[in-house]
Amino acid sequence: MPITNTSDIPLALSYDDVLIVPNRSPVKSRKDVDISGRLTKDIILKVPIIPANMASVCEKEMAIAMARLGSIGLIHRFMTIEEEVEHVQAVKRIEQFVIEEPYSLPDTAKLKHIEEFKQKHGLLEEVGSFLIVDSSRKLRGIVTHRDLQLEQDPEKPLTKIMTSKLVTASPEINMEEAMKLMTSHKIEKLPLLNDDGTVAGLITMRDILQSTQFPDASKDKQGKLLVGASIGVMGDYLERAEALVKAGVDILVIDIAHGHSDLAINTLRAVKQKWPAIPVMVGNVATAEAVKDLAMAGADCIKVGVGPGSACTTRIVVGAGVPQFTAVLECVAEAKSHGIPINADGGIENSGNAAKAFAAGADTILCGNLFAGCEESPGKLITKHGKRFKLYRGSASISNNMIRKARAEGRKLEEGVDGYTAEGVESVIPFRGSAQDVVNSLVGGIRSGMSYAGARNLKELHEKARFVRITDKGLKESHPHDLTVI
Ligand code: XMP
Repeated sequence: MPITNTSDIPLALSYDDVLIVPNRSPVKSRKDVDISGRLTKDIILKVPIIPANMASVCEKEMAIAMARLGSIGLIHRFMTIEEEVEHVQAVKRIEQFVIEEPYSLPDTAKLKHIEEFKQKHGLLEEVGSFLIVDSSRKLRGIVTHRDLQLEQDPEKPLTKIMTSKLVTASPEINMEEAMKLMTSHKIEKLPLLNDDGTVAGLITMRDILQSTQFPDASKDKQGKLLVGASIGVMGDYLERAEALVKAGVDILVIDIAHGHSDLAINTLRAVKQKWPAIPVMVGNVATAEAVKDLAMAGADCIKVGVGPGSACTTRIVVGAGVPQFTAVLECVAEAKSHGIPINADGGIENSGNAAKAFAAGADTILCGNLFAGCEESPGKLITKHGKRFKLYRGSASISNNMIRKARAEGRKLEEGVDGYTAEGVESVIPFRGSAQDVVNSLVGGIRSGMSYAGARNLKELHEKARFVRITDKGLKESHPHDLTVI
């Protein structure tokens, strides 16, 4: 029914319009506050603060850093299927007790082939050891960083460089036994061999130590880091999903600006029908009706946020959206009845907003701006007048990526042409250090916010949080005032 009376139009609030009301608190130290949140009903993140699946925010480096810290990276989709698969594989391989398919080169290869292999497979610089195998995959030797350090001649056969006297073990060895064997032989790599001498895997000391160095890391049952990856709703989306599932992705993200659409619902149904065991996060939406429709179509997590993002111009360009605090609150209320967690996406400028998002009932949050400035985000560091910056591009901005994509399709992309209207901006933002620095400062603020709310964990926060609405004067009072900040 069309609305005819302005009093029928509901008020919607953003994070800055409200404050959490302080409550009697059982918390003695903020270290005791547990912020773990559910990404899906089965995936719990010790640090439920996720970098946005945007081109200038999350690729493999960010995904690895965040999974190690207890979160998860969601690889963006603004690249070819092969590239996205590579990012997923890089995360799945980086930290695992047993590397099931160690990088191997044939015993006919030369030194120059190592660089070619690294480039072809998009390997991280830190990958530096390769097994040398014969034509039936029997192990002949191993080439490590150490072996390569002094070698210059690109034509030198790897069999002349490799170490061939090797300590090996059976694939049944456990972590403790492997650690003992490697320590007693002072070795860093332990190839695992089947009875016939073929390669069954590789254990590295670095992986064993790393698993103790990051006790909060988000891992799958095989000890590999968790990673998610995005797909769209048109064109190659099913082909992309299939390749990502094959690559071992732990969660797929259906990424569309208007998630309450037939396109998103049909995509979700198709993906869930084909891969019922793969969890699917879908968004973005801003209403209870949307949550209901997506829940009924099989969503495992719903991403909420239409227009709150710092690089978004959707609300200005198309006039649609819902202020984020209200959107999260209303979506959470509906999601509860379906047992689905809500992800609050966008508009988190500081730890206070993050605390409010969790208090409104979100289980996880997504941040673009805050992580785009990190050393692990894609893109170069820019130094200007002695200050450091990184690029931050809205996914719907006329970004280099989209221009590149259009070029690859043999056409020029111009705003307003081809039905394309930008709903985001490109910008530079201050360099913020490592992802760990950003996480630490957010986690500190969120834990304190939860302590003010009287909550020891997110479940208690969701039950206990109360809010007040504030006026412009209240907001002014909240910020430093009547002084000059130095
Ligand atoms: P923050 O505030 O953390 O928000 O920078 C990140 C979220 O913003 C969304 N996003 C966009 N929304 N146009 C939009 O309307 C865009 O170009 C755009 N790019 C990103 C997205 O949900 C992201 O996670």
